[in-house]
Amino acid sequence: MKKTTISKLSKYVGEKVKVNGWIYSIRNMGKIWFIILRDGTGFLQGVVVKGEAYDKTFNMEQTLSKEDSVTVVGYIKEEPRSIGGYEISVIELKIINSVLNEFPISPKEHGADFLMSNRHLWLRSKRQNAVMRIRHRVIKSIRDFFDNNDFVLIDSPIFTSNAVEGTTNLFEANYFERAAYLTQSGQLYQEAGALAFGKTYCFGPCFRAEKSKTRRHLTEFWMVEPEMAFVELEENMNWAENLVVNIVKNVLEHCHNELMILERNVKNLERVVPPFPRLTYKEAVRILNNNGSSFEYGNDFGAPDETLISEQFEKPVIIHNWPADIKAFYMKRNEVESHIALGMDIIAPEGFGEIVGGGQREENLEILTDRIRNHDLPLEPFKWYLDLRKYGSVPHSGFGLGLERTVAWICGTRHIRETIPFPRTMSRLEP
Ligand code: 4AD
Repeated sequence: MKKTTISKLSKYVGEKVKVNGWIYSIRNMGKIWFIILRDGTGFLQGVVVKGEAYDKTFNMEQTLSKEDSVTVVGYIKEEPRSIGGYEISVIELKIINSVLNEFPISPKEHGADFLMSNRHLWLRSKRQNAVMRIRHRVIKSIRDFFDNNDFVLIDSPIFTSNAVEGTTNLFEANYFERAAYLTQSGQLYQEAGALAFGKTYCFGPCFRAEKSKTRRHLTEFWMVEPEMAFVELEENMNWAENLVVNIVKNVLEHCHNELMILERNVKNLERVVPPFPRLTYKEAVRILNNNGSSFEYGNDFGAPDETLISEQFEKPVIIHNWPADIKAFYMKRNEVESHIALGMDIIAPEGFGEIVGGGQREENLEILTDRIRNHDLPLEPFKWYLDLRKYGSVPHSGFGLGLERTVAWICGTRHIRETIPFPRTMSRLEP
């Protein structure tokens, strides 16, 4: 007899198989009872009929509880009306371990805080399973995209001695009698990588001591950061656009069931094809002002501003050429208007906010050194970084795509905390 997972049942129609899993639900109809089994790869209805199942199995119904771990043996048949499209006619059911208490999560409404405190168990639910599978697919499509385009994976360190994205949200660690910071972004190390390999990327966790309790901020999140030598702003925007298009295409191709479980409006995702609208910051401000907002030029966009801008378009929008004052020290300036930084952000549609931030980097040694000073950053930890401008400096660009924000948008999940297995926020370090 073959042991199989639920995802592979199509190969075993008419055959007797063994499936291991957990009981998702039980329904008694008298001479017949049903279980829904889950095994992490899918859901399967089991039908237990008196006379067909062993008597011992048929009489077990009262002793079973949600989330008991079990082994089920039976015959597989196609059943389009059943969850997953197959059914198992149960012959034998064995309990591996019974739950010790009633499983705390039931189909009734639970508060978000309760669910988050039980995240280790909540991950078993259908919706969370779908979100995590989409996250997995997004990660795979990102890696495939860069690997297939000749980028080299160069991992950036997590312990660093310098800030990248400002000093207000740094996590400090005690590093053998000196201060270290958990990385906010792997970018600076990718710049070293790009000058060594041409095109590189890193993909790992980033840390920001965000005091804000918004639905878009985590203190630990994942970011993929490509960096490319001999690439300027325009080409950088093309790469970012292609990456986003590719991710969405991949999810649409491989995650149909998951998107259905999440009741995602797939039509909106199908519209994510190139080219994306590209606006300068100034044009974006005009759009805000023309739509009743009193937003003032020179400020950074907040969540409501990003929502208002994104509502004007059906696709992600790229915003470029930002006031330099609100951008990081490493951004190259526009050659004609020196107060403009060659930065670019991508705002997701439907109010999901910024998913990409990046731009062209300053490659001139003197200008960059002044910039570090003007931003009140200590020069010492940037010595190695400035070396990159001493030895064969070239125009180069890159960007960072936030994994959780991207997954939140694709899944249509309003709160980013559902898009990472074990979220870290200001108030949450457990589970
Ligand atoms: O715009 P950011 O801050 O850009 C950088 O860190 C650059 N150094 C990246 C680069 O050019 N290599 O962050 C990039 C993206 C944001 O667009 C957002 O998607 C995500 O990272 N992000 C966060 N996601 C969740 N929680 C937070 N606290 C985040 N901060 C940034």
